[in-house]
Order: sequence, then C-alpha cells, then structure tokens
Amino acid sequence: MKITDALFAEHVVFHNMFDHIEAAAPKLKTLAEVKCLAAVVECLLQAHSDTEDELFIGPLEHCFEQIGHRETFHEEHEQIERNLQLLQTTKQLKKARSLLLGIVQASRKHFDKEERIVFPMAELVLNSKTLISLAQLWRVQRQVPSRNG
Ligand SMILES: [Fe+2]
Ligand SMILES: [Fe+2]
Repeated sequence: MKITDALFAEHVVFHNMFDHIEAAAPKLKTLAEVKCLAAVVECLLQAHSDTEDELFIGPLEHCFEQIGHRETFHEEHEQIERNLQLLQTTKQLKKARSLLLGIVQASRKHFDKEERIVFPMAELVLNSKTLISLAQLWRVQRQVPSRNG
C-alpha cells in the first residue's frame, strides 16, 4: 500500500463523518453537544494532519515551492485547527453550530485540493519504494500507544 492510498482512505472516513455532522448539526439543541462533536473532529483531524505534515512536507518540499503551495498546505491545517479551538471557547449555540459547519466545509475543500494536487504530485515525484515505506511509517504512527507504558 502507498501512503497516498492510506491518506485517501482516511479522507473517505472523514467524509462519512462530515455527512453525519451536516445532517445532525441543525438538530443539536445544546452548546455542549456541538462542542462534543467538534472535539471528536479535532482529535481525529489532528492525527491526520500531523501525519501529512510529518510525512509529506519533507519529501515534497521542493515541489510545494515550485507550485507555490508550500505554506498553503500547512496553513490550511492550522486554520482549521484554530477554528476548532475558537469553537470550544464559544458561548452561543448558533455561533458554535455555524463554526462547526464552516470547519466541515473547509476540511472538505482542503481534502479535495490534496486529492487533486498533492497526492497525484506525490505519486509522480516519489518512487514506489518511498511511497510504500511512508505507508509503513503511517502504520506505525497510527497504532494506539501501549497503555502499559
Ligand atoms: Fe491535509
Ligand atoms: Fe488529508
């Protein structure tokens, strides 16, 4: 398996979760429920974005610079993260709900850009041995840390 296959598969799961959030958000009655959903998104997205930042920025740095996307890739992760943190400080249900839906929309847009530009670029520039060894690193990173210390 290539790293791009692994990351793409994660995107699919996120899209399923986003579908659920978009359907459920209008029906949520309390601020706590919105914050709770947002906390799940934050936790899962953080792990996904960290993996991309750690495994992609290095090997693809020169390409990002060429297409002028070096900062964008990382900045979009940070922007989404900042909005998730802002949501947790919000005291109004309406505002929290609209922030959550905005975050979902921004994430979908970001994923789409990765699927159209970043993943194909990685498959073009990195050889298959590298793509496979990055997927092995992904597998290690994704393992739940041992609870026995
Ligand atoms: Fe990303
Ligand atoms: Fe991604």
